Amino acid sequence: MNPFTLNYHPNYFCDRESELNQLKENIVNGRNTLLHSPRRLGKSALIRHFFHSLEKEKTFETLFIDLFATQSMGDLIKIFAEKLLEKYHSKNIITGIKKILKGINPTVSFSQDGIASLRLNLDESQHESTLKELFSYLESRRKKVVVAFDEFQVVAGYHQKAEAILRTHIQELKNIQFIFSGSSNHLLKEMFYSAKRPFYQSSEVVVLNKINRQKYADFIASLFNKGKKKIEETASDHLLDFSEVYTYYTQAICNQAYYKTQDLLSIEAARQITKTYLENRKADYQSLLNLLPANQKKVVIAIANNGSVKAPTSIEFIMKHKLPSVSSTLQAVKSLADKEIVYKTNEGYTVYDVFFKRFLQMYYQK
Ligand SMILES: Nc1ncnc2c1ncn2[C@@H]1O[C@H](COP(=O)(O)OP(=O)(O)OP(=O)(O)O)[C@@H](O)[C@H]1O
Ligand SMILES: [Mg+2]
Repeated sequence: MNPFTLNYHPNYFCDRESELNQLKENIVNGRNTLLHSPRRLGKSALIRHFFHSLEKEKTFETLFIDLFATQSMGDLIKIFAEKLLEKYHSKNIITGIKKILKGINPTVSFSQDGIASLRLNLDESQHESTLKELFSYLESRRKKVVVAFDEFQVVAGYHQKAEAILRTHIQELKNIQFIFSGSSNHLLKEMFYSAKRPFYQSSEVVVLNKINRQKYADFIASLFNKGKKKIEETASDHLLDFSEVYTYYTQAICNQAYYKTQDLLSIEAARQITKTYLENRKADYQSLLNLLPANQKKVVIAIANNGSVKAPTSIEFIMKHKLPSVSSTLQAVKSLADKEIVYKTNEGYTVYDVFFKRFLQMYYQK
């Protein structure tokens, strides 16, 4: 098996010691957590790893709920109920339904691997009472329960009262602790940082950053060693430069590097691997680029070639990259940021997808 997985695996998980400690501290002290970071840095995997350790210690019960595909409070309730059934009543769904969803008669269907899918047929007036039922079920468990709502920012797109309803219920719970997680976009930030919103100051914030470079390098070397392979330090450096130590991109390129290595990965081989990788992705990235209007194309290429840029509308940047006027550059940056193609960091604007950035640098260099 390739140890550089793109799905969480407890045996192939790198570092995150301090974040795991923070999460633990919050739970033990009865605080809810807001966990956020830019996309693909490892929030979901971190929560899974944390839950894995809690379940192993048998100290807490855990429930991971991915809200990504939900569009309404009804969807949230449905997926929440399904997770409860799967966790506590997979052997007897019917009994489970009677215990968890009192007074509701859902239609149940099963996937090939036996996982139940519910049709609840709730109307909106039943939402609050059903949510209450689900939470009280967890309240009555003997062990404390930690619930993670991943991609929590989607709740901001539900109907107006959803946030307030959730907040009201959550506040009253004694046996359940929450982790809310999502990418650091304006939706999530407003939910938790705006004084007008129900979740304001409701949680301790944990912001996920990149994994420490040296720790990632050690992790890579140790996984190569475990597979009876070796990697030159310069080769590992090259891979980490290429991925900017960004978790998803590091995993993806190391996955390639691992499987293409017989005994030893040299710097030359590593360079070849990153080059081939971009060549193979060329068509995809080309079509992504071609979807952009001309001025956005120019601006994203300029930002990629610059690495990052503090002031994309400065005369200096505009002259250097022969961009059109200040106003059209400003407009382009705004559109690119809205589409999450570029992203504002402390160092300035940068291309969000590291491999797309590398593609632009390789094929559109000035
Ligand atoms: N500490 C880690 N060690 C090894 N692999 C990891 C680690 N953290 C995350 N990964 C891997 O990196 C990739 C991105 O992680 P993950 O999906 O958890 O990020 P995310 O922040 O939840 O992204 P998104 O914002 O898109 O939901 C996944 O393939 C995951 O398995
Ligand atoms: Mg995630």
